[in-house]
Amino acid sequence: MDKPLIVANWKMKGGKFLYLQIIKKLSQELTHDPELLAGCQVVIAPSLIYLSWLQEVLRELPIEVGSQNVSQFLPGAYTGETAAVMLSEMQVKWSLVGHSERRQWYFEEGSTIAHKVLRCLEQGITPIVCVGESTEQRTHRRQFEVIQKQVEDALSLLDQAQVAACYWAYEPVWAIGCGQIADSASIAEMSHFLSELLSGLGSSKAKILYGGSVDSKNALEVFRVPYLSGVLVGSASLVFMEWLGILRQASQYYARIP
Ligand code: PGA
Repeated sequence: MDKPLIVANWKMKGGKFLYLQIIKKLSQELTHDPELLAGCQVVIAPSLIYLSWLQEVLRELPIEVGSQNVSQFLPGAYTGETAAVMLSEMQVKWSLVGHSERRQWYFEEGSTIAHKVLRCLEQGITPIVCVGESTEQRTHRRQFEVIQKQVEDALSLLDQAQVAACYWAYEPVWAIGCGQIADSASIAEMSHFLSELLSGLGSSKAKILYGGSVDSKNALEVFRVPYLSGVLVGSASLVFMEWLGILRQASQYYARIP
């Protein structure tokens, strides 16, 4: 199996001082335990302004950087935006797309997200497409219908090979940033649904992450959920001991899986 993916979404939080503390402490851990990250693939997605700086800081570590966002447009007159080709020129290999905070605050929806996913793939960037239902949608038992629409919209411009190249992050909106992770049964149910859905759409081994209040206490529970290939971590990725705990458990858990 591919190495599981552990992604830190630093959102618009923190700054150089905090980031350096985290990276320095992680480097020290790696000197004591060089195998710490051997069992997984680790990506950190900071605000765009820190990307190059972070690449430099991470130069000696087995960690890649990712973008939290990308423009749906080809290069042109789009003030404030960043084209996929620009990320690719800066050796960025990953980008989150359609995070629920972007859907909520920047009104991103199906067609925009579909173009962002396509723009990434055109430039060899792996999109991590975020999908998830709101509390209200779950209360009305509409979660499967909602997720199916989000997935179908996101891949509406892709061919089969491109569909297979995407990562997916199931992030129920009601579990993000609140400290209350979704229960394992709901995560398992949705990852199974996503896996079947994507298999029907041409991606037989869909790579699905879970995100929403993952921390060092519940990470192992999430790793044990079938069909998952990793986690997307927000708040806990900016608290060093939490982040370290998640990475340790990922390495130990996945090292046991052939
Ligand atoms: P959280 O954020 O871990 O703080 O819930 C996850 C995310 O929004 O990607």
